[in-house]
Amino acid sequence: MAEFGTVFIPKMTQASFSNNAWSDISVVPVDKLELHAGAHVLHYSSTCFEGLKAFRHEDGSVNIFRMDANIARLRQSSRILGLPDFDDKMAADMIVQIVKEYADQTPEPPGSMYIRPTHIGTEAAIGKASAPSLSSLLYVLLSPVGDYFAGGTKELRVLLEEDGMRCAPHMGMVKSGGNYASALAPISAAREKYQADQILFCPNGDVQETGAANFILIDGNEIITKALDTSFLHGITRDSLLTLARDMGMTVSERDFTVDELIERAAKPGTEAALSGTAAVLTPVGTLIHKGKDYAVGNGKAGPVTDKLRQTLNHLQWGKTADKYGWLTKV
Ligand SMILES: Cc1ncc(COP(=O)(O)O)c(C=O)c1O
Repeated sequence: MAEFGTVFIPKMTQASFSNNAWSDISVVPVDKLELHAGAHVLHYSSTCFEGLKAFRHEDGSVNIFRMDANIARLRQSSRILGLPDFDDKMAADMIVQIVKEYADQTPEPPGSMYIRPTHIGTEAAIGKASAPSLSSLLYVLLSPVGDYFAGGTKELRVLLEEDGMRCAPHMGMVKSGGNYASALAPISAAREKYQADQILFCPNGDVQETGAANFILIDGNEIITKALDTSFLHGITRDSLLTLARDMGMTVSERDFTVDELIERAAKPGTEAALSGTAAVLTPVGTLIHKGKDYAVGNGKAGPVTDKLRQTLNHLQWGKTADKYGWLTKV
């Protein structure tokens, strides 16, 4: 299977904003984008995106998971970046139209059709370092994908980073390219130095998230994860898993917690930790690396609660259990 996100459906939907109005939606090739070299996005990073998935069910239907939540987050990111707003319906039409057109290319579970709505500032204006782009382009790419972590449940090694941070604290909740650029160098260094798969950013001891997923700690019947604030991405998988966990009778504690508490709880035999995200789903963390030392989480292996939560989410996405929260949109 090709590397995640490297295979593209040849067409995408797009709409552009200029002169205070959105164009109609059009379907265009993905391999060529015409931009002025002075486009705002290329200089001042006026860009945000989403990642969501469509799943093939046994009856042959194709269903998009939590599209409304992803559209709401893209609108929020756009607002914070000063990009033009759009209405929910336009974005939903753009997503549904292209997913429907290429529905037959949606892989069987555990594969899916990964959907990447993207919004960029296109105004040719290199003097606008501190002013928003007045024009923009919104487009929806598709990429058929397999399992993000091929080999499924291989436990991750995660470095606890207390000195740096992933991005500026007011930008964490924005799904914008600059945040990923800002985290790239520390993640690359952690891979090389500690053979870490990811960094868990914990500025001044505050346990936040990794470069591309949220972090949850499972201690017995309790799930602990940082409460929503501006400093990290409000994951839709996180929200879905917490909803499922509450329904399973678990206690969900959304609150701040420190590296000290994390290491202390991780030492207990039954503790589990995992990364949650659209791509990662729920991937177990086996080892925490802190100040040059390895700490196993529980017994260092994938635990039963992580497995059960992941399976419960997957079964809903794959249409094996009822969609009782109304999270799926059939195309
Ligand atoms: C930085 C970051 N945190 C968390 C997540 C998880 O968000 P979601 O569950 O909406 O995919 C992502 C994206 O997958 C991310 O890039």
